[in-house]
Amino acid sequence: MTVIAVYSAKGGVGKTTIATNLAWCSSQRHAQRTLLWDLDLSDGVGFMFRIEERRKRQARSLFAGDVDAHELIRPTGYVGLDVLPADNSMRELDFMLSRLGQRNRLANIGRKLSRNYERLILDCPPVLNELSAQIVRAATVIIVPLPPSPLSARGFDFVVEEIRRHTRKPPPILPLLSMIDHRRTLHREVLAANPSWPAIPLAGAVEQCAVRGRPVGAFAPRSSAAVAFASLWAGIEHKLSQLAARSH
Ligand SMILES: Nc1ncnc2c1ncn2[C@@H]1O[C@H](COP(=O)(O)OP(=O)(O)OP(=O)(O)O)[C@@H](O)[C@H]1O
Ligand SMILES: [Mg+2]
Repeated sequence: MTVIAVYSAKGGVGKTTIATNLAWCSSQRHAQRTLLWDLDLSDGVGFMFRIEERRKRQARSLFAGDVDAHELIRPTGYVGLDVLPADNSMRELDFMLSRLGQRNRLANIGRKLSRNYERLILDCPPVLNELSAQIVRAATVIIVPLPPSPLSARGFDFVVEEIRRHTRKPPPILPLLSMIDHRRTLHREVLAANPSWPAIPLAGAVEQCAVRGRPVGAFAPRSSAAVAFASLWAGIEHKLSQLAARSH
């Protein structure tokens, strides 16, 4: 099972934008059968791919074991890219997971899904709770988007500490500077202070994704943002192949 979690305890840092664009790169540029699982009830992924909400809200039932994931999975219109959407039923998901007392519920569902998909990408809610703990235990790698600021490195250390609290063997945790504006001195300073961190530019084309209902690679493949997402995904694939080689 290969699970890529896009996670931060902070809201509005670009998680959904990054998860959807990476899922597109994985499926369209690397031909990996990819499932994008939206774990945030605001359903940003569903909106991005213009997936109509079902009248029956069932996302929570998946965790309760009352419904099979494959009944909920929806196509996106892109070959090899499907979505497991969120819905309002997830409102009490954290409470339910705590009560169930099964620490690896999410990982076990992910394992079942991996029979049909090579890559499972998680769009995570900005929370620190039982759900985020389960995400951490299910992940093969965790991508942590960080808005560029002098506090980025501290913010990253905080997330790493949190992740380590939930698992004895934490997966690789990859910082990612989201929304870098090269015209701003402060942003350039953050880049210079963290030269090994990948970065996604602040770009009108990225904002347009939600407006057009398409990932940036689909409508502006030569834009700096599309190139940055493609190179980020190539780096993640490289990391995954290193991890796979190590585990053999
Ligand atoms: N690289 C970028 N350039 C320009 N705008 C961006 C970029 N990345 C994200 N945004 C914009 O920032 C806003 C927040 O992004 P997004 O919804 O992906 O964050 P999030 O971390 O998923 O938020 P939440 O915690 O609420 O789920 C959106 O309006 C999105 O279009
Ligand atoms: Mg989001």
